[in-house]
Amino acid sequence: MASQTGLTGPERPPHFTDDAWIEVLSAVDRTYADLVVYQEQLERQNAELEEMRTFLTAILSSVSDVLIVADRAGRVARISRSVMALTGCTEATALGRPLAEMFETGERAVLGGLLQMVRDRRRSTGLEANLLTATGVEPLDVSIAPRLDDRGRVDGFVLTGRPMGALRKAYAELTDSHDALKTAQAQLVRNEKLASLGRLLAGVAHELNNPISFVYANAHALERYAGKFETYFARVQEGAGREELIALRQSLRLDREMANLREAIQGARDGAERVRDIVEDLRRLSSDGSGEKTVFDLAETVRIAASWVMRGMKQPVALVMEPLVPAKVLGRMGHVQQVVMNLVQNSVDALEGRESGEIRISIQTEGQQVVLTVADNGPGVPDEMRTSVFDPFFTTKPVGRGTGLGLSISHKIAQEHGGSLSLAEGGPGATFRLELPLAEGAG
Ligand SMILES: Nc1ncnc2c1ncn2[C@@H]1O[C@H](COP(=O)(O)OP(=O)(O)O)[C@@H](O)[C@H]1O
Ligand SMILES: [Mg+2]
Repeated sequence: MASQTGLTGPERPPHFTDDAWIEVLSAVDRTYADLVVYQEQLERQNAELEEMRTFLTAILSSVSDVLIVADRAGRVARISRSVMALTGCTEATALGRPLAEMFETGERAVLGGLLQMVRDRRRSTGLEANLLTATGVEPLDVSIAPRLDDRGRVDGFVLTGRPMGALRKAYAELTDSHDALKTAQAQLVRNEKLASLGRLLAGVAHELNNPISFVYANAHALERYAGKFETYFARVQEGAGREELIALRQSLRLDREMANLREAIQGARDGAERVRDIVEDLRRLSSDGSGEKTVFDLAETVRIAASWVMRGMKQPVALVMEPLVPAKVLGRMGHVQQVVMNLVQNSVDALEGRESGEIRISIQTEGQQVVLTVADNGPGVPDEMRTSVFDPFFTTKPVGRGTGLGLSISHKIAQEHGGSLSLAEGGPGATFRLELPLAEGAG
């Protein structure tokens, strides 16, 4: 204010009135007041900025994922502490480097292309990429998002990356245990197959024994006849007299043996044919179920499978198979055979020790479905077990007799064929119902 007073007196410009001076002074006052306001605003904004900076720094240093902020040109502007820890860079060494250079050489072009795409479309995108680290590379599940300015233009990029190592490891472990499970499952299915095969073999041995002994006995008889004829023809050759030959013929009973000869040949042939049929059946039974799907007659399959189970049986059980309507089904014959054999075997088991046991098998078509029922007059399945019988390992049979897998595998096979396997309501005894879709165009 000294200069103000200093302007009083003769040096004061003549056209400056007092009013003008007051005007100037108040303008100065106003400006000063404004300045104070601006100063306060600036300080407030400064504090906000500082707070924002601390906030951002806190984020950058606390995120465990990789976080890289880049400018419009795709050059690194900020990196999270996790990036520094991984790569060994400091913010100073990383700053201004092209973002893509932080990744493996082979991926840089792709990354560059992606940045361009994000820039053009203003939308996030992702990829798997290997971040160069102090010790090698770190595979990351990367996501790149555009950073927009207040006018909505792309002003830079934010790249986040989740280390894949842990994910990969977890995934690999999952795959391993899945594989182990599959192997175990295959093993179990094999065990069940072996168990039914064992039972089947008992039946096969028994069944083959019959025709083979038949063939054997007839061959033995043929040998005997051959001996007699040899004796007779030797005498003919030696020029024996008619009388002698007639007597020899009688003593050797050649006329009767002649008729027997035909019978023995027929018998041996029957036996051989029976063996051939059995082998044929067995070949079908052992046909690998994993093969191609084919169209086959369910009735035929059921007949063979059921009769084979019955052959292995220790006590008499009546088997009634009617109606057995021919029904073409598309699927794996071996698998369906396995289902039928298991159902019939379960019935045979349920009838063990019971008098006048009976198993009824029927095949009927209902619309586009074919329905096979296997019913027995055994004790049936108690209500509380109705659902459990389909569970793997559920068995009421002693160790060595039951695996508890038959129904669970059968259920799965039915489903794989687009059908179902269920336990019908009511009794007495148990009735299992297998439904399968009829093969297209067949009825
Ligand atoms: N026809 C049936 N009558 C009574 N119970 C049955 C019948 N079929 C199956 N079950 C019951 O279901 C259980 C499971 O059958 P399954 O899965 O074939 O295994 P497994 O025959 O090895 O025991 C049997 O142990 C039995 O208790
Ligand atoms: Mg069974």
